[in-house]
Amino acid sequence: MHLGLEKKVVLITGGTKGIGRSMVQAFLKEGAIVHFCSRTKNDVDTANESLAKDFPDGKAIGAAIDVSDQSQLTEWVNSCAKESGGVDVIVANVSALAIANTPERWQATFQTDMMGTYTMVQAALPHLEKTKGNIVTISSVSGREIDFTAQGPYGAIKAALVHYTSQLAHTLAPKGIRANTVSPGNIYIADGVWGNIERDTPDFFKKQMEANPMGRMGKPEEIADAVLFLASERATFISGTNLLVDGSLCSGVQL
Ligand SMILES: NC(=O)c1ccc[n+]([C@@H]2O[C@H](COP(=O)([O-])OP(=O)(O)OC[C@H]3O[C@@H](n4cnc5c(N)ncnc54)[C@H](OP(=O)(O)O)[C@@H]3O)[C@@H](O)[C@H]2O)c1
Repeated sequence: MHLGLEKKVVLITGGTKGIGRSMVQAFLKEGAIVHFCSRTKNDVDTANESLAKDFPDGKAIGAAIDVSDQSQLTEWVNSCAKESGGVDVIVANVSALAIANTPERWQATFQTDMMGTYTMVQAALPHLEKTKGNIVTISSVSGREIDFTAQGPYGAIKAALVHYTSQLAHTLAPKGIRANTVSPGNIYIADGVWGNIERDTPDFFKKQMEANPMGRMGKPEEIADAVLFLASERATFISGTNLLVDGSLCSGVQL
């Protein structure tokens, strides 16, 4: 399947680790020009170096910014557009990954997940209007079902992201801009959330692993593939969808 992503300018938040990093690599493999960010300058520098080595014909440009800082994020989006001559795709991937039910964690989740996504969209809209580009937001199965994250902010804000993305799809369709969500299930990354849980609370990890009907957790590449498809020319009539990529972890029927 030809995705038509060559030379498309793609902005991904949180591209040095986990799902974000897999997305950066997957878009590069398709010949896209990829801008990514994270807060840790060392990690950004290391990622820039290794991506340049792994994709000698590609163009990946990382920057150290914090998406919870609205002015940094807006400036980054505009500087990427200037450097690469526009924006075709944005992927709002970063989350505060906050589960604790405290005012601080609710505030951090709102500022990072919700406002980070909103701010990225607002900054990118003038550029996406020109390219008739598209938006992908990253939610979670926790936004759809009440699970182990319940009581804290994670699932509630992830659900809000799905609603916000549907609003964008509906209101931006006349401008030729699409917006979709990908909701991952449990995705195993050795130095990520589930790798940490496996080391810190092996019993809980085992229970969660057993909850996956496929008998395994997902791989970050499996999320990247779904994002690539939705962002591509093969999905031009898909907007406002919430694509669960969870190996059938969710038992509810999505109508
Ligand atoms: N992993 C899963 O099982 C799973 C399941 C469902 C949904 N998701 C969703 O998938 C997305 C990615 O999760 P992940 O597991 O890949 O996370 P991860 O492995 O922890 O990676 C997060 C990335 O985002 C960067 N980041 C974090 N906070 C940032 C900020 N404020 N500003 C800029 N960059 C920031 C991190 O770098 P720095 O820390 O250096 O900034 C890192 O590059 C999240 O939205 C998450 O909710 C994940």
